[in-house]
Amino acid sequence: MVCQARRFEGKTIVITGAGNGIGAATAQRFLAEGARVALIDREGEALAAGFGQLAPDRCLIVAGDCTDAGVLQGFHARTRATFGHIDILFNNVGQSGRERAAPFHESQEEVWRFVLEVSLFTAMRLARLVVPEMRERGGRIINMSSDAAMVGDAGLADYAAAKMGIVGFTRALARELAPHRVTVNAVAPGAIRTRAHDTLAPAVLDHITVGTPAGFIAEPKDVAGVVAFLASEDARYITGQTVLIDGGRWML
Ligand SMILES: NC(=O)c1ccc[n+]([C@@H]2O[C@H](COP(=O)([O-])OP(=O)(O)OC[C@H]3O[C@@H](n4cnc5c(N)ncnc54)[C@H](O)[C@@H]3O)[C@@H](O)[C@H]2O)c1
Repeated sequence: MVCQARRFEGKTIVITGAGNGIGAATAQRFLAEGARVALIDREGEALAAGFGQLAPDRCLIVAGDCTDAGVLQGFHARTRATFGHIDILFNNVGQSGRERAAPFHESQEEVWRFVLEVSLFTAMRLARLVVPEMRERGGRIINMSSDAAMVGDAGLADYAAAKMGIVGFTRALARELAPHRVTVNAVAPGAIRTRAHDTLAPAVLDHITVGTPAGFIAEPKDVAGVVAFLASEDARYITGQTVLIDGGRWML
């Protein structure tokens, strides 16, 4: 990684779903730029393998399920106790119904609730915990949306609803917090090569590539770089935005 700046020295970032994929790449990027990172993932072994040996004085790892409000409260309290304050929140965790995803007329309310819990409510709950502190000290919140919300991917109505919910939540919170030197933005990736892609048939990957003007599927680090920019001082006048990182699949 070409990264010489240490823009986040002395700053603390909280990242959810940091054990794999985009969350892990973002944690690595912030560590490389000098930040203290507090990471949570339900796969404790992935967190330990990726971060257990890295910068122990700047890295807190917690195994837990982000859909459990009590777990998030405990994680927030441990982060405050370890690092003193939180400057940046990256609400990354989320997923579709995956193998339980279905055309809407066959979909199950139980799956909608799961998708909304993990992709929207986790972000709202953790933001609710950090916002009182950020109103005092300033800060940055970056929420994970998806271009599936903009495009309206068929068979993912619940996921699109959750990820568009993130967009509305981001805008309203940005307006509330702008006077307090807190910016709130969202990122909306298109196809990013994470482990979910390992299960896709080559024909599906080809279809995605052909439908992407840039002509390739991006890497988790392509999202991490944008999150780092939004968290930086350079982005202090950007708030309430949703930044598409999708090779031009959806243009605002
Ligand atoms: N990969 C893509 O193409 C893509 C595109 C758009 C949006 N996104 C979004 O990016 C985010 C990260 O996705 P990814 O592709 O990096 O996935 P990933 O599966 O590679 O990583 C997600 C991580 O979140 C963890 N996780 C899942 N549910 C959890 C829970 N309830 N509590 C704690 N940890 C949990 C998993 O254990 C995993 O480590 C998601 O919100 C996803 O919707 C991904």
